[in-house]
Amino acid sequence: MTVTDTPAPPTGPSTPDNPVLQARGVTMRFGGLTAVKDVDMHVNPGEIVGLIGPNGAGKTTFFNCLTGLYKPTEGEVRLQGEVLPPKPRAVVVAGMARTFQNIRLFANMTALENVMVGRYCRTSSMALTSILRGPKFRREEEATRARAQELLEFVGLGNSTESLARNMPYGDQRRLEIARALATDPKLILLDEPTAGMNPQETKQASDLIFRIRDSGLAVVVIEHDMRFIFNLCDRVLCLVRGEVLVEGTPHEVQSDPRVIEAYIGGGDDEDEEAPASTTESTEEQQ
Ligand SMILES: Nc1ncnc2c1ncn2[C@@H]1O[C@H](COP(=O)(O)OP(=O)(O)OP(=O)(O)O)[C@@H](O)[C@H]1O
Ligand SMILES: [Mg+2]
Repeated sequence: MTVTDTPAPPTGPSTPDNPVLQARGVTMRFGGLTAVKDVDMHVNPGEIVGLIGPNGAGKTTFFNCLTGLYKPTEGEVRLQGEVLPPKPRAVVVAGMARTFQNIRLFANMTALENVMVGRYCRTSSMALTSILRGPKFRREEEATRARAQELLEFVGLGNSTESLARNMPYGDQRRLEIARALATDPKLILLDEPTAGMNPQETKQASDLIFRIRDSGLAVVVIEHDMRFIFNLCDRVLCLVRGEVLVEGTPHEVQSDPRVIEAYIGGGDDEDEEAPASTTESTEEQQ
């Protein structure tokens, strides 16, 4: 299988050396279905880690376990050494942000307002200052607005500040979701299919943006079905199949592993066959 244009960088396997994220033995059962089974994953500072696997492999469910949307049936998740409670707000405050497979924006709010909402977990907006609307509140509000504008420019949406989210092109909505996630000041960002529905040019821009996010000091975990995108972007890749980690390694190791090819194409042995590059629509509630 040849899916990259350039040889994979010689990054080598990573060891969990003071990782930003450490997930151990994460299992998620829904009744009789085990969607995620005993998954270990670590992410080191400054790393971009890819999570791949066929439809229904458990990738989004695993993200939901990491971010507190689901309470894992078993296992623990640590961020910078601290065990995370399975509560989405606590996870965001601790420093983990995410985007969703099915975009979740406030459709009738502007781009700027959407990003400002992300920022409120770092302000006293829920406290007395916001009720009294005194000088402290106004200063915070101005700082929030300025930071949101800065983030919109960072993701390439500096000219869309006043656009209503629902009127924005699909690719811009995905970038807006990233800006909103960045507004929470995360240490680690999880991106669930950030290029789904994008054309090749937008996909290239998304890849450049993720490199810039990493260069700004964050660690990144990205789920994608576009193998070229994943293998050119990531330092390390995990392939999940039926809820379990089938293979973990450098992009080069993973893309040439026959088990990965088999998982995608169902046992074929055509070396030139490329794993699927597109996504399918999903109707799962928590995606
Ligand atoms: N809330 C839920 N209740 C019951 N089953 C669920 C729930 N969420 C996910 N599942 C099941 O868990 C399995 C894994 O689904 P998940 O959405 O995590 O896969 P995925 O790897 O993200 O797939 P895709 O690439 O299509 O997005 C599927 O069989 C799915 O139907
Ligand atoms: Mg998914």
